[in-house]
Order: sequence, then C-alpha cells, then structure tokens
Amino acid sequence: MRNFVLALTRNPISMVGAAIVTFSSAIVFTLFLLEVVGFEGGPYIGILAYLIFPAVLAIGLILIPIGIRRENRHAAQRGEGPLFPVIDLNHGRTRRIVLTVVALSVVNVIIFATATYKGVEVMESNEFCGTACHSVMQPEHTAYVRSPHARVKCVECHIGAGADWFAKSKLSGAWQVISVTFNLYSRPIGTPVHDLRPARETCEECHWPTRFVGNKLRVIDRHADDEANTPLKTVLLLRVGGQRADDSHGIHWHVDPDVEIRYRSDPSRENIYDVEMRHRETTKTFLSPLQAEEGWEEEAGELEWRTMDCVDCHNRPTHIYSTPEREVDAALAAGHLPSLPYLRREAIAAMGEDYDSHEAARAGIRERIEGFYRESYPEMMASQPDVVAGTGDRVAELYTFNVFPAMNVTWGTYPDHIGHEVSTGCYRCHDDEHATADGETISQDCQVCHSVLAWDEEDPEVLDTLEF
Ligand code: HEC
Ligand code: HEC
Ligand code: HEC
Ligand code: HEC
Ligand code: HEC
Repeated sequence: MRNFVLALTRNPISMVGAAIVTFSSAIVFTLFLLEVVGFEGGPYIGILAYLIFPAVLAIGLILIPIGIRRENRHAAQRGEGPLFPVIDLNHGRTRRIVLTVVALSVVNVIIFATATYKGVEVMESNEFCGTACHSVMQPEHTAYVRSPHARVKCVECHIGAGADWFAKSKLSGAWQVISVTFNLYSRPIGTPVHDLRPARETCEECHWPTRFVGNKLRVIDRHADDEANTPLKTVLLLRVGGQRADDSHGIHWHVDPDVEIRYRSDPSRENIYDVEMRHRETTKTFLSPLQAEEGWEEEAGELEWRTMDCVDCHNRPTHIYSTPEREVDAALAAGHLPSLPYLRREAIAAMGEDYDSHEAARAGIRERIEGFYRESYPEMMASQPDVVAGTGDRVAELYTFNVFPAMNVTWGTYPDHIGHEVSTGCYRCHDDEHATADGETISQDCQVCHSVLAWDEEDPEVLDTLEF
C-alpha cells in the first residue's frame, strides 16, 4: 500500500491528474450549485459546467492511473516492491483508504451521470443551437423567433426522436463545433439541408398529412407606391384540400399516402428535371424541355433524386426570410409603421441598398429616410422629427431581421417555395412545360391551386359580399 501511495505522489503525471480532478470537480460543483440557487448564466455557463469541465475532469482521471503505471514500472526496474498494492482489509488504515476510494468513485460517477444528462439538455436547448454559435446561426435564429414555430425546439425538426438520429446528429454537431472553431463553415450556410431528417418523422409528429384542410380564404394586405400608401387587397381561395375517403384533391394531394412523387434536380432543387408520379394505378413521367436536347446531362451538372414531402413546399416553415415589399406591407397593415407620405416606396428603396453591417444599415437607412422627408416634406420634418427618426429605426430593424452581411445572407438568399411570387416555388414543376410523352403537362392553370378573387384592389367586391 505504501508503494502505491508513493507511486501516486512521487510521479508528476498523477500529481497533475489529481490536481486537475480536484480543480475541475470543484468548478463543476460550484457551477451546479449556482444553477440550483437560481443563477441564470445563459448557454455559456451550461457549456462550461456540463461539457467542458467534465471533459477536463475525465482527462485528469485518466492521467492518474497512467502516472501510477509508469512509476510502478520504474519501481519494478529498480527492484522495489510489488507492481500493485496488496490490499489487506484487516488493516484499519487500508480499510479506510479503500472506503475513501470507493466513496470518491461514487462521487465521480454521480458527477459524470449528471454532466451527461445536463450536457445533452444543454446541447438540445435553443440557446445552444441558435446563439452559442452566435454569428453563424444568427440568421436562422432571428427568423425562427418571429415564426409560427418559435415555441418548437430546433431539435424537434432537426433531430427528432430515436437513438440513431440522436447519434447521427451528435456526430454532425461535433463536426459543426469544429467547423465553427476553425472557421471552416460556409457563409451563408448552404440550403437545402441534404441530410435533413425526413418530414415523415419530424413535421408529422405534430401535423399529419391525412388531415383534410379544405379551402382556405387568404386576404393579403399590400399597399400602392403612392403618396398615401393606399391599402390594396388580394383575396385568394386556396385549394389546400387533403386526403378524402374517396380520392384526394387540392394542394395537399401531393402528400396523400396513395401518391408518390419523385423528382431529379440539381443540388439547389431550384431546377427540376424528371418528375415521376404514382397515384394508385396511374403512373406518369414528366420531362423538362431541356431533356430533349443532346448532352443535357453535362449542362445540368450534378443531379440527385428525391421523393417529395412537406419540405419541398414548406421549406421555410420557421426560417422565414421576407422581401422588402412584404415586410413594409405587413408593418403598415399592422400599424407598426405610420403611413407617412410615400413611405412604402422610400422604405423599400432604403432596404434594397447594400450595407456592410447591421450598424451601417441602421445609420444608412435612418439617414436616407430622414433625408427624403427633410427635402420633400420640410414642414413635417420640422414638426415631427421624432416620428420620422422612429420610422427610420423601425425600417432598419425590418432590414436586420432579413439581411446578415457577416454571413452573406441577403434578400433572396433562401428562396421560399410556397407559391410563386418571391421565387419559382410551385412553378419549378407547374410550368406547363414539364411534359409526358403524350404531351400532358404539369398544369399552371391558376384555378388548379386557387381562385384569385381579387388582385391588388382598393375595395374588392368579394369582401363586400362577405360583409368584411
Ligand atoms: C418547424 C421546424 C424547424 C425548427 C423548429 C427549426 N428548423 Fe432549422 N430548418 C428547418 C427546415 C425545414 C430547414 C430547411 C430545409 C431545406 O430547405 O432543406 C431548416 C434549415 C436550417 C438551417 C440551414 C439554412 C437554411 O435556412 O436553410 C440551419 C442552420 C437551421 N435550420 C438551424 C436551426 C436552428 C438553430 C433552430 C432553432 C433556433 C432551428 N433550425 C429550428 C426546420 C426547422
Ligand atoms: C413540435 C410540434 C411541431 C413540429 C415538429 C412542427 N410543427 Fe408546424 N406547427 C406547430 C404548431 C403548434 C403550429 C401552429 C402555430 C400557430 O398557429 O401559431 C404549427 C403551424 C404550422 C404551419 C402553419 C403556419 C402558419 O403560417 O399559420 C405550417 C405550414 C407548419 N406548421 C408546417 C410544419 C412543417 C413543414 C414542419 C416540419 C419541418 C412542422 N410544421 C413541424 C407545431 C409543430
Ligand atoms: C405541394 C406543396 C405542399 C406540400 C407537399 C405540403 N403542403 Fe402544407 N400547405 C401548402 C400550401 C400552399 C398551404 C396553404 C398556405 C397558406 O395558408 O398560405 C399549406 C398549408 C398547410 C398548413 C396550414 C393548414 C391550416 O389549417 O391552415 C399546414 C399545417 C401544413 N400545410 C402542413 C403540411 C405538412 C405537415 C405537410 C407534409 C405532410 C405538407 N403541409 C405538405 C403546400 C404544401
Ligand atoms: C416536384 C414537382 C412539383 C412541385 C414542386 C409542385 N407540384 Fe403540384 N403537382 C405535381 C404533379 C406531378 C402533379 C400531378 C399532375 C397530373 O396529374 O397531371 C401535381 C398536381 C397538383 C395539383 C392538382 C392535384 C389534384 O389532383 O387535385 C395541385 C392543386 C398542385 N399540384 C398544387 C401545387 C402547389 C400549390 C405547389 C407549390 C406550393 C406545387 N403543386 C408544387 C408536381 C409538383
Ligand atoms: C401550382 C399552384 C399554383 C398555380 C398554378 C398558380 N398559383 Fe398563384 N399561388 C399559389 C399559392 C400556393 C399561393 C399562396 C402563397 C402564399 O401562401 O403566400 C399563390 C399566390 C398567388 C397570388 C398572391 C401573391 C402575393 O403574395 O401577393 C397571386 C396574385 C396569384 N397567386 C396569382 C396567380 C395567377 C394569376 C395564376 C395563373 C397564371 C397562378 N397564381 C397560378 C399557387 C399557384
């Protein structure tokens, strides 16, 4: 036993190991106590307490036996004592040492079990995903916080349930931590996410494709670029449809269990070539016009097959980036922007400029809006300078929700595939040009998807009919 204690204290490796263990477990314990008392340190404290220091602690624990083994080997070479201690529990002193070692090991096991559990909790928190890698995920996190899914955790869409995806995501998460540390990630982060877990196992935990939505009336508020920012309304009756007992119809027909649509596209999924459709006994293959040309495959470059699911249309369920027009229209409609003369036109122009940073955008946009009113409406500028300045700040804020110069994210970087106004969206297939050998096409007939009941009208008759 004496040799063992000597081996432990005589060699520097074990001494360093023991020091590391004492030091890091004291820190983990203190941080844990702080949390128990209610001290909120944010994600960084969690990362330190449950990821970094437990790892340091483990290194310390490994160093101790390594040092002892080395020291024992040296001792054996010198012909001193046995390699391992002879444990004779008849000695009171030995009993106490063994008990202490057992007790300390139990404490270590508890620390590691808690750290593992808490560490996983930390890694699954939105703060970790969205803000710990702050500048990297800032665009996604900002868009997410304003979306209908702001209360759904990142992991519920990006990982889902089950051990295999958990392990897979932790591996890719580890890679992400490395790529952030060494600055290897791409700016902007690429889209689409090619290894996103299938929607069947994420979205469908909360939504189900067999739910029949039916027709949905949508009233879209817009404004004219005139002095009064005249309100305009677009009214759509969307045929969302869904699964019906006999046969499905409408937009959600694509995800009916009896329907399977497979397509081949470039990695961006913006250019779609073959579309294969199977609906009960019917099968059809639509080819893009480009495919009739000789050597089209070389021109198209890398191609991949994919089976259509929710994310082919709802690719922006939560990271929703808007357009200057939509942001200003929504803010005017909600009363977040006052209807100052020509504000829509001026705000959109100011947001369309290039700025190097959010700070530059805040200064530049406010300056531009103030400049316009100073020049064109000097009396208004003189009587309500605060309103104009506040409006400039608000417009700048709308810009910072969507454009992130540090990540090279600008208007249109992440196209939204719902509809066809802000990107090609549905028209990637519904272009009346993808055709079968018999000349049948994927329809672009407006009525297939919706009735346009009013289109940018000041006072739509249909809303009077509805007594709106
Ligand atoms: C409602 C489900 C959902 C939630 C919640 C969610 N995401 Fe996403 N995320 C998606 C989908 C869908 C995509 C894009 C899929 C595609 O086009 O390939 C995506 C894409 C991304 C991308 C790639 C860049 C892009 O925008 O295409 C990043 C990074 C990302 N998410 C991070 C996060 C973070 C961080 C959180 C939590 C703050 C989060 N996500 C929460 C569904 C979700
Ligand atoms: C953990 C549950 C959960 C998951 C997972 C989830 N959602 Fe949702 N989703 C919701 C809730 C709750 C709402 C309603 C929010 C509201 O009405 O404000 C919603 C709303 C929606 C809406 C309507 C949005 C709107 O503008 O009103 C769409 C579309 C949608 N989800 C698509 C998706 C897609 C696509 C996925 C997978 C990438 C997904 N959801 C994953 C819970 C979830
Ligand atoms: C072919 C494109 C497409 C596919 C595929 C698709 N959706 Fe939709 N979905 C739409 C459109 C378009 C709307 C109506 C959008 C609007 O309200 O502005 C919609 C509406 C919704 C809504 C809102 C319904 C409501 O009651 O207001 C939910 C939730 C939703 N989809 C979930 C899903 C889920 C989950 C899947 C996958 C199983 C899916 N969608 C597949 C296009 C699609
Ligand atoms: C990957 C290709 C693809 C995309 C993207 C796509 N569709 Fe389709 N869609 C099809 C095919 C194929 C058919 C079936 C055409 C046929 O049977 O002749 C179809 C049929 C439809 C139908 C008719 C369903 C019925 O029988 O009642 C509607 C409505 C529709 N799509 C709406 C949409 C909307 C809205 C979007 C965008 C949000 C969209 N589609 C995006 C491939 C696509
Ligand atoms: C393949 C389905 C499909 C076809 C075909 C289609 N649309 Fe649409 N359209 C949509 C969807 C889905 C939306 C709603 C997007 C949303 O929820 O924001 C939409 C939105 C619109 C809007 C409102 C845009 C906005 O945000 O202000 C107008 C206007 C419109 N469509 C006109 C047309 C006209 C005109 C045609 C015929 C040339 C047509 N659409 C054909 C699916 C389709």
